[in-house]
Amino acid sequence: MENDKISLVTEDGLRVDGRKLDELRPVKIEVGVLANADGSAFIQQGKSKLLVAVYGPRELHPRHLALPDKALIRCRYHMAPFSVEERKSPAPSRREIELSKIIREALEPAILVDRFPRTSIDIFIEVLEADGGTRCAAVTAASVALAHAGIPMRDLVAACAVGKVDGKIVVDLCDAEDKYGEVDMPVAYMPNKKVVTLLQMDGILTREEFDEAFKKAISACEKIYEFQLNALKKHLSIIEEVKEEESNG
Ligand code: CDP
Repeated sequence: MENDKISLVTEDGLRVDGRKLDELRPVKIEVGVLANADGSAFIQQGKSKLLVAVYGPRELHPRHLALPDKALIRCRYHMAPFSVEERKSPAPSRREIELSKIIREALEPAILVDRFPRTSIDIFIEVLEADGGTRCAAVTAASVALAHAGIPMRDLVAACAVGKVDGKIVVDLCDAEDKYGEVDMPVAYMPNKKVVTLLQMDGILTREEFDEAFKKAISACEKIYEFQLNALKKHLSIIEEVKEEESNG
């Protein structure tokens, strides 16, 4: 029934969480949050919170999986049972298997895999709290964690979903917008190479709407890229400070 429809955008163009149509949720990225991983990052985007650990390049087990000419990238996207409203089974779901694959495919073009034949690079993503956009946040944080692990890359990969909600093109959907909106379109992008590494669409857009949404997704990814760079720079400056303190005794 039309009257029962949930309104997601007000007449003033404000969204359920008070954001403007083009506004990202607050983004916080921290680098080097896990001592036992080669590279790690934490991301909070709105209410979504994820932790990423990267290992490698390292010797690959089982060995028969080794690729003679490049590193094998393995990726596991996992949602903690407490990350969603209704407890999620810790066993991998079909959705998690699919997301692990598309996140790996979104990251691989940025990694210089041919420098490390016969090795593996393992990426573990733990969703601690999910409120929409977790596959994009996973790509964003994983690419920072890969850089933190010192893995040579062509570019960082930044990701953000755009979509259509109450007939309007919006940027960085939260869970309610994802669930009750018309379209969800996650995009991952290498800002320096200007290459799109992931583009999915759930719903239908006209050609004009797609063009508008795509443009907004690229501009959102460019903003996310700034957060990635700043997080890496901040981490490096902390290392420099510690080194300086140590050398000063
Ligand atoms: O997180 P993302 O938007 O990339 O993926 P999705 O499959 O479109 O899921 C959207 C949102 O649905 C997630 O971020 C969660 O907030 C929610 N979800 C959930 O509540 N329970 C699940 N088992 C899976 C997703």
